[in-house]
Amino acid sequence: MPALLSLLAVTAFACGVLGTPSASLLFPTSGLNLAAKSAKKLYFGTATNSEQWNDTKYYNILKNDAEFGQFATEPEEGVFTFQDADIIADFTKKTGKLLRGHNCVWYNQLPDWLTTGTFTAPELAFIVSRHCYNLVNHYKGHVYVLRFNIHANSTSDRYSWDVINEAFNDDGTFREDVFYNTLNTSYIPLALYAARAADPNAKLYINDYNIEGTGAKSTALKNLVKSLKADGVPIDGVGIQSHLIVGEVPSTFQQNLEEFVALGVEVAITELDIRFQSLPPDAAGIAQQKQDYETVVAACNAVEKCVGVTVWDFTDKYSWIPSTFPGQGDACPWDENYVKKPAYEGIIEGFQTKHH
Ligand code: XIL
Repeated sequence: MPALLSLLAVTAFACGVLGTPSASLLFPTSGLNLAAKSAKKLYFGTATNSEQWNDTKYYNILKNDAEFGQFATEPEEGVFTFQDADIIADFTKKTGKLLRGHNCVWYNQLPDWLTTGTFTAPELAFIVSRHCYNLVNHYKGHVYVLRFNIHANSTSDRYSWDVINEAFNDDGTFREDVFYNTLNTSYIPLALYAARAADPNAKLYINDYNIEGTGAKSTALKNLVKSLKADGVPIDGVGIQSHLIVGEVPSTFQQNLEEFVALGVEVAITELDIRFQSLPPDAAGIAQQKQDYETVVAACNAVEKCVGVTVWDFTDKYSWIPSTFPGQGDACPWDENYVKKPAYEGIIEGFQTKHH
């Protein structure tokens, strides 16, 4: 059966009582996930791709519960073949980590049968509903282990799905992709209802980029959330991707999170990386990057309903930035040799920032 799935992101979690019986895992003394949990967040996580897992250095950091809570993978599936994503989901289940699904509906990385096909509105509506239902249903229950997590709070027994990804243009108009052009905005509630039906325990998110500060695009998404809520459509969270540039964290970052939360949704930083536009960075740039990571994490820390932070992979070795933004990079908290950068400390300090 055909599908639209292109990426599956997985959020993992420090494992608490059900983890591997190793003192270092059960009682980590430092690490990003641990810092997040000390700050009463649900997780600190990372995107990942299981093809990288035979890199031992990579895998050892990834599986460390003190560091991560969360990963993402890229099976680039064109059919309902879940093997690649299942590798991640099974791992999170075994280790008691939290799962974030990414994503159900996205204009990008679509299979040819979908982009070249001509579907009527009812046909495409069926395709969207079936895809979201099957995807969310397949991973249903993968994190119920979290009910026993000693760190859990009332929401941690639920996981999240980016049901809608990147639905807007930067000016706040809707992106004219195959879904919008055929179904107008109706594909959004369709996808959300299908996801809710598949797993009532999953938190359903809309995820986007360039919504890190206030502005036309954030306003458009806030208006969408308001209208979905007014219509009774299930929507639990907004994912703030946060693919940022060093020195350019919007000054309204925290205010923007607060404005989303005020609409009755939670928020998460879902794809954080902070890149240099020219390489190599100088010492001042590296210090600025540390500050920027701290600013973003401190903003999430200060907003109670900002539940967690995910980096879009943790090492420059596997970052998506250089291939998408040629000449740019060094965006992750670990460098390509797995040396922690000052940015790592910036994250820890962000979680330690005191607020009332
Ligand atoms: C990126 C992947 O990391 C790359 O490997 C791929 O080539 C392109 O997509 N916004 C998203 C993510 O929601 O799915 C994207 O991931 C990065 C931008």
